[in-house]
Amino acid sequence: MGLPKLQIALDNDALSEALYSITQVGDEVDVIEAGTILCLAEGMEAVRCLRALYPDKIILADTKCADAGGTVAKNCALAGANWMTVICCATIPTMKAALKEVQDLQVELYGDWTFAEAETWMEAGLVQVVYHQSRDALFAGETWSEVDLNKIRQLVAMGFKVSVTGGLEMETLRLFAGIDVYAFIAGRGIRDAANPRQAAREFKAEIKRIWG
Ligand code: 5RP
Repeated sequence: MGLPKLQIALDNDALSEALYSITQVGDEVDVIEAGTILCLAEGMEAVRCLRALYPDKIILADTKCADAGGTVAKNCALAGANWMTVICCATIPTMKAALKEVQDLQVELYGDWTFAEAETWMEAGLVQVVYHQSRDALFAGETWSEVDLNKIRQLVAMGFKVSVTGGLEMETLRLFAGIDVYAFIAGRGIRDAANPRQAAREFKAEIKRIWG
């Protein structure tokens, strides 16, 4: 079992705020995500700025792309992103077209996806999925359950690199002990902390304590 990576999600409303956040924690994390909210608000300029600041980090553009995969992915790659996300209901041609343009592609799992569909993603060459507790589901009072953990285990058993996200706090990580999680994606749990750098370090230390 590998040591899960730590990915910071920059779901800021403005590029200036995202840049403030990342200068605090960029050196502490493994992957930098230009979040969906940031991409929609600021476009690829957000990715360009992150790449300029962190030339050697993995940068993910969380576009949750549903269509025009090749074009969107090409724009992400030109801006400096290594990875991009597609939504799980995108068609296989959209996923394949996107995968040609970026180094790797994550399928974001929302709603009523099936393991049969997951097989088709794998056949199409996709190896990364993101198991997501949606922000709106969390607001509605849902939380991580054994059903979620079993689905994550099943995806790992199929051979996927499974990242986990959605309202993660340092204390949440222990729920996933024993599961080969590829990356923990945390946004507000780090960005909104009183000391984001310290929070990122605590996430890393907890990951090492559990999986190291
Ligand atoms: C929302 C996202 C977020 O980037 C992800 O859920 C992490 O954010 P947070 O830790 O604040 O929930 O993809 O669609």
